[in-house]
Amino acid sequence: MLKRFDKLYGIDLGTSNTVIYEKGKGIVLSEPSVVAVNQNTGELLAVGAEAQAMVGRAPGYVDITYPLTNGVIANIEMTSRMLQHFIKKIQGRKSLLRSSQVYISVPCGITNVQKRAVEETIIHKGARRAVAVEEPLAAALGAGLLIDEPIGHLVLDIGGGTCQVAVLSLGGIVASHTVHRAGMSIDQDIMDYVKKQYSLEIGERTAEEIKKRIGTANASAEERTLDIRGRDMISGLPRSVRLSSGEIYLLVDDFFKTLVEAIRTTLDQCPPELAGDVIEQGILLCGGGALLEGIDKRIQAETGVHVHIAEDPLDCTALGAGMMLGEHGSRRSMNQRTYKPEEQVAVSKGSSNREGSKQ
Ligand SMILES: Nc1ncnc2c1ncn2[C@@H]1O[C@H](COP(=O)(O)OP(=O)(O)OP(=O)(O)O)[C@@H](O)[C@H]1O
Ligand SMILES: [Mg+2]
Repeated sequence: MLKRFDKLYGIDLGTSNTVIYEKGKGIVLSEPSVVAVNQNTGELLAVGAEAQAMVGRAPGYVDITYPLTNGVIANIEMTSRMLQHFIKKIQGRKSLLRSSQVYISVPCGITNVQKRAVEETIIHKGARRAVAVEEPLAAALGAGLLIDEPIGHLVLDIGGGTCQVAVLSLGGIVASHTVHRAGMSIDQDIMDYVKKQYSLEIGERTAEEIKKRIGTANASAEERTLDIRGRDMISGLPRSVRLSSGEIYLLVDDFFKTLVEAIRTTLDQCPPELAGDVIEQGILLCGGGALLEGIDKRIQAETGVHVHIAEDPLDCTALGAGMMLGEHGSRRSMNQRTYKPEEQVAVSKGSSNREGSKQ
């Protein structure tokens, strides 16, 4: 039950970034989901942006970890400590979610046990109520789609650890497909490529920078170059090379094919009426990967369906999760919706397919 002075939070606990929306204030935190710990003492050295700045630069005794893998909590203790730190940051001195209600996003298709683990982590931090909501639903709502209508919408969320494709209708997920290949795997592909092609070792932050600055999904994009520095694998000395956007395009292209396949699989699972709606409504693109140059046009060209990018692709999930609490905190969790028998088939199809899609 909502108490008058409860704070309402929407949290997007992502593999790459944690974003927190507070009702009445807007987005109050957006930080990388990273922690740095002293291996010898267990002491938390840095969290979020501060910890990310240490990636590839820390001494051996500092363990830098992403507590989430593929959108799912992989290390409960570290996730809990990271959240604790973020909550303290937004609440000032208080370090608990006391007198608060939280809607928190989780990847679609995860098990109820995994959902409960997320909710319990939040309750453990003092929240009065915690509800796990599926990410594409929250993202769609945050991006302004009217998801409760009997109209099919297709959402494609390209995050750091997962790409989620979901067809939504009547406030629920009718079909979905999750691919465990997303922004971070492009970074890894870039690191592997530079190693193989130039015998040069680069860190994950450099790889991400390359992707953001010269990455493109557009084959005919104007050629751009970037000088990058790394460690020569033979001499062990620093060396720089010039990379071109054409080289990165080829790496992105491979990832892109997986993405289009995921869209096809999801559309295949959904009833024809909804597939028809999707053609009319277009595809909503969100998550940080939506910012990759030319990705919207490319998806449009491959699928023949209009693609629009959410206004705030990195923030819309947290915003939507916060919006689900509604005016009086009475909006039911989308996960708790009662599905009609044919919808249940579609939903379980989507979930089982996800299992099959693990890469
Ligand atoms: N301009 C850009 N071009 C390409 N990729 C980008 C850009 N900006 C951010 N990204 C990528 O977006 C990803 C992070 O997106 P997002 O914050 O939506 O992921 P997440 O929600 O933390 O992950 P997940 O949903 O998989 O758990 C990172 O891999 C980042 O490199
Ligand atoms: Mg995400």
